[in-house]
Amino acid sequence: MLKTEFTETFGIKHPILCGGMTGVGTADLIAAVANAGALGLLTALTPGSPELLSKEIQRCQSMTDQPFGINLTILPTIVPVPYDEYRQVIAESGVKIVETAGSNPAPHMEAFKAAGIKVIHKATSVRHAIKAESIGVDAISIDGFECAGHPGDDDIPGLILIPAAVRQLTIPVIASGGIADGQGLAAALALGASAVNMGTRFIATTEAPVHENVKQQIVKNNELATQIVFREFNNTSRVARNSISEEIARLSREPGATFADVAHLASGLRGREEVLQKGNMEDGMWWASQAQGLIHEVASCQEVVDTIMNDAEAIIRGMQAQLIA
Ligand SMILES: Cc1cc2nc3c(=O)[nH]c(=O)nc-3n(C[C@H](O)[C@H](O)[C@H](O)COP(=O)(O)O)c2cc1C
Repeated sequence: MLKTEFTETFGIKHPILCGGMTGVGTADLIAAVANAGALGLLTALTPGSPELLSKEIQRCQSMTDQPFGINLTILPTIVPVPYDEYRQVIAESGVKIVETAGSNPAPHMEAFKAAGIKVIHKATSVRHAIKAESIGVDAISIDGFECAGHPGDDDIPGLILIPAAVRQLTIPVIASGGIADGQGLAAALALGASAVNMGTRFIATTEAPVHENVKQQIVKNNELATQIVFREFNNTSRVARNSISEEIARLSREPGATFADVAHLASGLRGREEVLQKGNMEDGMWWASQAQGLIHEVASCQEVVDTIMNDAEAIIRGMQAQLIA
C-alpha cells in the first residue's frame, strides 16, 4: 500500500486515476477502475444529455460500492452545452469528486462546494494551476506534453512540469501524461506528485467499451505513434497517428487553412463511431498518447492497477535498499 496526500484527501485506496475520456469513460470502465481501488472519472458529456448522465451515474453506482468521480470538460462548442444542468445532476447524484478540465471551473465551484464535492482541476500549465488553486480547487491534475487530448501550447514535458507545479502549489498534485506503469508512478512520486492520472493505459483494458482493434493497436504502437494536430487553429491536440491524422496535418499546413478544411476528418463523432466502436483504425481520428510505447498487453483494470502498485512499491523499496550507501 502507498499512502499519499491524494489517497488521504480523497479516500481512494491507490494513488491512481483514470482521467475523463470522451467515448471511453462510461460506467463499464469506471466501475471496473473503482473496484480495482483507483479513482475513475465518468465522462459527463459522453451519455449525451443531463438526463442520460443521471442514468449513467446510477448504472455505475449499481456496479460498484467504491467511490468514483465525474469529469466535466468545459470547452467552447458550436452547439451550447447546458453546463448548469449537468452540474445540478452531478450535485444531486451523491458523487463526491469532480474533475474539471478545459476552462476555469470558477462558475461551478460554489455549487460543487455546497454539495460537499471535492474538485480536481486538470491544467496543462503551472500558471493555470495556480489560478485554479486560488479559486479553491482541492487538487491539480497536471497534464504534460506527452498526454493524449489537449496538451496546451507550452510543450513542457512531465519531468519539468510536475516538479514545477509541486513547488508552486500547496494542494496535492496529480501527475498526468505519458504514465502507464509502476516506474511512472514511482517517478511521479519522486517528483513530488501524490498520484498519477492515466488515460491511454486504461483504454487497453478488457473493460474499456471500445473495439478490440483499438486495444490491440495501442499494444502494437510505440511512443512514436502520436501526432500533434490543430495547433494552427489554437486547439492543440495529441492524437494517435494514422492516415487520417497525417491528412489533417497536411491540410492544416496549406496556406490560409481553417478548421473547416479538416472538420470532416477531425469529427469526434466519426472517430467514436468508426474507430472506437467499429474498429476501423484508419477511418477516423482517435486520441492516444506517447504512453502507447509503454503498453504491452491488454489486461483487466484490476491487473493494471495491481501490477502498477506492486511494481512501484518494489522500485521504491529496491532503490532504498540498493542505492543508499
Ligand atoms: C480517448 C481519450 C479521450 C479523452 N477525452 C478527454 C475528455 O473528454 N476530457 C478530458 O479532460 N480529458 C480527456 N482525455 C485526456 C485524459 O483524461 C488524460 O488527461 C490523458 O489521457 C493523460 O495522458 P495519457 O493518455 O498519457 O495517460 C482523453 C484521453 C483519451 C485517450
